[in-house]
Amino acid sequence: MKISVIGVGYVGLATAAVLAELGNDVIAADIDKKKIEGLNSGIMPIFEPGLRELVARNIRENRLRFTHDNREVIRHGEIIFICVGTPPKENWETELKYVKNVAMEIAHHMDSYKVIVHKSTVPVETGDNVRKVIRDNIKKSVDFDVVSNPEFLREGSAIKDTLEPDRVVIGSDSQRAIDMMKKLYDPLKAPLIITDIRSAELIKHASNAFLATKISFINSVARICDMSGADVEKIAEGMGHDKRIGKEFLNAGIGYGGSCFPKDSQAFIKIAESYGYDYKLLKATNEINEEQKEYFVKKIKDALNNLNDKRIGVLGLSFKPNTDDMRFAPSIYIINELQKGGAKIKAYDPEAMEKAKQVFNSIEYCRDPYEAAKDADALIILTEWSEFRELDMEKIKKMMNHSLIIDGRNIYNPENMKKLGFHYISIGRKEVV
Ligand code: UDX
Repeated sequence: MKISVIGVGYVGLATAAVLAELGNDVIAADIDKKKIEGLNSGIMPIFEPGLRELVARNIRENRLRFTHDNREVIRHGEIIFICVGTPPKENWETELKYVKNVAMEIAHHMDSYKVIVHKSTVPVETGDNVRKVIRDNIKKSVDFDVVSNPEFLREGSAIKDTLEPDRVVIGSDSQRAIDMMKKLYDPLKAPLIITDIRSAELIKHASNAFLATKISFINSVARICDMSGADVEKIAEGMGHDKRIGKEFLNAGIGYGGSCFPKDSQAFIKIAESYGYDYKLLKATNEINEEQKEYFVKKIKDALNNLNDKRIGVLGLSFKPNTDDMRFAPSIYIINELQKGGAKIKAYDPEAMEKAKQVFNSIEYCRDPYEAAKDADALIILTEWSEFRELDMEKIKKMMNHSLIIDGRNIYNPENMKKLGFHYISIGRKEVV
């Protein structure tokens, strides 16, 4: 099928590459000319495992092209995916001007029947608004349908998630559009949820809100574990075996970050508010998430007595492993607070240091984890990159000024750390000295 994708961020790029891989004829566009030039010469705007190879193969095999010409991209596709950014406004409402601009352009350039799909996370009723913008501005009298097809991919596993989704949600009131979407997704053999546009839009916000709440739930339990001497990992395991609860997203830590959960949960609260509903549960989810970062800083302060002039080695800056994304990363709040207290920060992250340079002041960036640990009064773990699990801890211990580790992601075994002679502090697990 002929497919167009407008906006090549995480969602647009993964969608374009995967749909090309499935054999479709895909053109993807973005207004950022530099990004498009880079993509056409094999430079990815983001770090995402497997993406570069997938894009290169599909360009080579003539199934994927990038352009900054919106007219060309709009005329090309039978199905047009809108994947532009939906950033938060200052009051956390969703900024929809990019979606509306694209809808206007579609209305201007469309010259045959199109299925117009919004994949970006948008407030309920956006599909109706997109339809209205197009209807009010259409130049040629051609038919079109609107579909909501929310994307559930995670950063760091975007390609795998897009190729093997848990489900595909298709929201539309047009059987013609639904049939075309079903045909497009048929090769994925994923469960299909066919519904109306508004329900599809809400499935996305409800899913992210639920996952964020699950994280805040286990973080609250971790606080009780810290006070009672119980072990949050065992509790998560014990809960997770119950099929109604499930094992996933019960990792206690320093709270969620990234481009989705913080923004989408706040946006969902605003959406609820616009209908007159006070979404108390989700407000609490967000509050607990903020507190979790403060709680971690307190653990560091308590362990070091006084932050002034203390050298703190930081392992991990990105909001989670396998991405260089720093958006709403818990590391931002935590490092800023440590610096306010007078601590000197030496940090290492396998991928995010370039992006981190735009976020932090006065951090010393290190070549590897050992350099971050050298002469440190404490080593703190902020992202659970797998390479941190395999460090030579004896070497780390010898290099540090004090053998103190404060682990925000629970990646080490407390008993092993004790045997190695570390003072090891983690989240919701007994401290071993
Ligand atoms: C999320 C959703 O998972 C995805 O479906 C949606 O499309 C976009 O938002 P993403 O932000 O890429 O994806 O990352 P995810 O793996 O969900 O993690 C989000 C945050 O929660 C990270 O900061 C992570 O460290 C944190 N987290 C996750 C926990 O603290 N504990 C957990 O058990 C799981």
